[in-house]
Amino acid sequence: MGKEEGVKDTPPSNSRPTNQCRSLLPMRVLQVFLMLVVSALGISVVSMHMIKYLKIQTLAPTTLISTCDEVTTLESFIKPPSSAWHSMNDSELLWRASIEPRRYEYPFKRVPKMAFMFLTKGPLPFAPLWERFFKGHEGFYSIYVHTLPDYKSDFSSSSVFYKRQIPSQHVAWGEMSMCEAERRLLANALLDISNEWFVLLSEACIPLRGFDFIYSYVSKSRYSFMGSADEDGPYGRGRYSYAMGPEVQLSQWRKGSQWFEINRELALYIIEDIVYYRKFKEFCRPPCYVDEHYFPTMISIGYSDLLAKRTLTWTDWSKGGPHPTTFGKSVITEMFLKKIQEDHSCLYNDQKSHVCYLFARKFDPSALEPLLKLSPKVLGF
Ligand SMILES: *[C@@H]1O[C@H](CO)[C@@H](O)[C@H](O)[C@H]1NC(C)=O
Repeated sequence: MGKEEGVKDTPPSNSRPTNQCRSLLPMRVLQVFLMLVVSALGISVVSMHMIKYLKIQTLAPTTLISTCDEVTTLESFIKPPSSAWHSMNDSELLWRASIEPRRYEYPFKRVPKMAFMFLTKGPLPFAPLWERFFKGHEGFYSIYVHTLPDYKSDFSSSSVFYKRQIPSQHVAWGEMSMCEAERRLLANALLDISNEWFVLLSEACIPLRGFDFIYSYVSKSRYSFMGSADEDGPYGRGRYSYAMGPEVQLSQWRKGSQWFEINRELALYIIEDIVYYRKFKEFCRPPCYVDEHYFPTMISIGYSDLLAKRTLTWTDWSKGGPHPTTFGKSVITEMFLKKIQEDHSCLYNDQKSHVCYLFARKFDPSALEPLLKLSPKVLGF
């Protein structure tokens, strides 16, 4: 009975099944389908969150690593290190310095700087004058100092010369080691891609004008400043050796003072050179003073049109001999400085000018005191 009742009870459910199943089956399919849709949505929502989360996860280590310099950032290329010191030897340095951007659309603001390269034995007696000259012009200049290899400079952290000493080598006057030192200075300065103009100075050099004047004069010049003369006689063509051919011909032989100001293109040309370097190193030895011939000749072969063919550094050779006059305390007057500032004539951007020199040498350390006194009035800083 109970069974029957049960059966009785069930008939409706028993009789319906086929009907119910017919109507439930699409419902189940729909349910499963809906569940699938919902779970798919769920998964996609979760995975989107996961991606965000994972991005944060992958970003976090990158920023951590970049502080350890393991991942390259643009900044690591464009920001010069705070110290000019490094652990590269000369071949490594020259090779590294020859890596140059070729795309002149910078993805950052590039303010072109002037690199002031001091070729010294060690001390810089005119540092106080230079400090005053550079004051207020941060971001428009860089400084590099080449000294005797074991000289330790002791500038305080407030000085513009602080940590500007580069790894240096011994230099012999008039020999290839002099050009190597100049090339070393150029290569170090080229590491900072903001450096656009490169001035070579000695410890006996002083600026003849204020920073803005010099920056403007150099940056607006169509030419680089390096002496490059075809000179007859024993001190000119007489120093040429036919062994330097065929790369260097007698007609290409040039002479100029070693104190130059050149642009980035020429600086790169100099540090890239292997061919002329070998010729000059082997065949231009005293009494062929290589620092007077190597750069003037090779640039005049490759880039003659880029040279103003004069130097920006005034030197007094009037007394003759192998070394120019050195000026001490007693001769430094307003009239003396005005005379070397303006009493000349030359071409500037192919126009006649009486401003031909921006720097002067040689000065004895005793000249510092009167120069500091006169500089605001006469030199403009
Ligand atoms: C610089 O170091 C490299 C690697 O040790 C070496 O091959 C090269 O000869 C060195 N160059 C100079 C000029 O010392």
